[in-house]
Amino acid sequence: TGLVTVDPGFMNTASCTSEITYIDGDAGVLRYRGYPIDQLAKSSSFLEVAYLLVHGELPNAAELGAFVERVERHTHLHENFRNLIGAFPRDAHPMAILSSAVSALPGYYPESVDPFDPARVELATVLLLAKAPTIAAYAHRHSLGQEMIGPEPSLGYVGDFLRMCFADGGEYEPSPSLAEALNLLLVLHADHEQNCSTSTVRIVGSAHANLYASVSAGINALSGPLHGGANEAVLEMLRDIRESDDDVDTFMKRVKNKDKGVRLMGFGHRVYKNYDPRAAIVKSTADRILSELGKRDEMLDIAMRLEEIALSDSYFIERKLYPNVDFYTGLIYKAMGFPTTMFTPLFAVGRMPGWIAQWREMMNDPTTKIGRPRQVYTGHTDRDYVELDAR
Ligand code: CMC
Repeated sequence: TGLVTVDPGFMNTASCTSEITYIDGDAGVLRYRGYPIDQLAKSSSFLEVAYLLVHGELPNAAELGAFVERVERHTHLHENFRNLIGAFPRDAHPMAILSSAVSALPGYYPESVDPFDPARVELATVLLLAKAPTIAAYAHRHSLGQEMIGPEPSLGYVGDFLRMCFADGGEYEPSPSLAEALNLLLVLHADHEQNCSTSTVRIVGSAHANLYASVSAGINALSGPLHGGANEAVLEMLRDIRESDDDVDTFMKRVKNKDKGVRLMGFGHRVYKNYDPRAAIVKSTADRILSELGKRDEMLDIAMRLEEIALSDSYFIERKLYPNVDFYTGLIYKAMGFPTTMFTPLFAVGRMPGWIAQWREMMNDPTTKIGRPRQVYTGHTDRDYVELDAR
């Protein structure tokens, strides 16, 4: 009906109205529910930000306490998840494990599935926030052939996640600076309006699929190297440069010549045509954390050199390509001891509140309709079937 226009990649089409996250891509501004990202990154805990995104307001102390307690009560996974995750080959990508385990959750918690019952949606919200780090930590340990260790919520959300990933028997005290850095990275990833995975979550949910099914689809979208998978791809790129005979300038020539489609991973963004405000925070954190841990990384120098060249090169200037959030995060995750395959699952744990908040906003919006884009057909016109022996 009416005029259908083609808009590849939805460059100019808004799919919804939203009150959650504001981005001014030209000015490099990002706000969650009106609060600037740098203020939240400096002062808030991840679960506080999750509450803000989902419920619209910063919690007071009692509200936050009750929310955290509720999340902590649900961090354990049903025993069968050890079998589910253990059934994957050791070298299976942890993103495949994460999306599969999230898909499995409604089977174990059917009382939380109904998308139209607010109390059940709130339960699903808490369960997803609570169980995502446990699943990610199990996936991490499985990939290393180590025993999966269950949660100990008294260490706090981030501290316990680090323990589940890295404890090797006995007591484990997460380093405060590591926990602080991971909290900050999770806050920075918590939402980013209608990106590829969030749009996926909304479109799946628009068919009235439940929250778990919608989020699981979002995790799969996030795995792509043009989206969340970029953090892994950046580190591989830096490693390739370090290990190849190419110097940084030769690599940049290949990028500019679009040699085999090679891109400077961690650069460019559909919305930011200025420095990604998250990247600025991550860059200074990478610098600090790496020196604090005494893990000065040659790859940080390569990354800084790439950035320096890019920011003064007409190819990047004309196209308004700046470092995005993924450019420096991998170096921090690596310094924390995570293998590259865990980088995108860490992004997914961070993005969970955004997916949930966006799904809930979509479900509560009376103007929502099933996501069903139109097309402009360019194939054959009418033609007659040809029998097999006549082809
Ligand atoms: N390196 C080299 N050239 C680039 C890059 C890059 N990273 N990004 C864009 N360009 C060029 C592109 O070739 C095109 O050039 P031309 O005008 O000559 O055809 C121009 O810049 C515009 O690019 P586009 O692909 O049309 O832009 P887009 O808005 O469709 O894509 C993007 C955005 C993020 C997919 C893209 O910039 C990219 O592939 N970046 C590398 C992957 C990456 O870092 N992704 C993480 C994004 S941020 C966090 C997240 O979403 O997870």
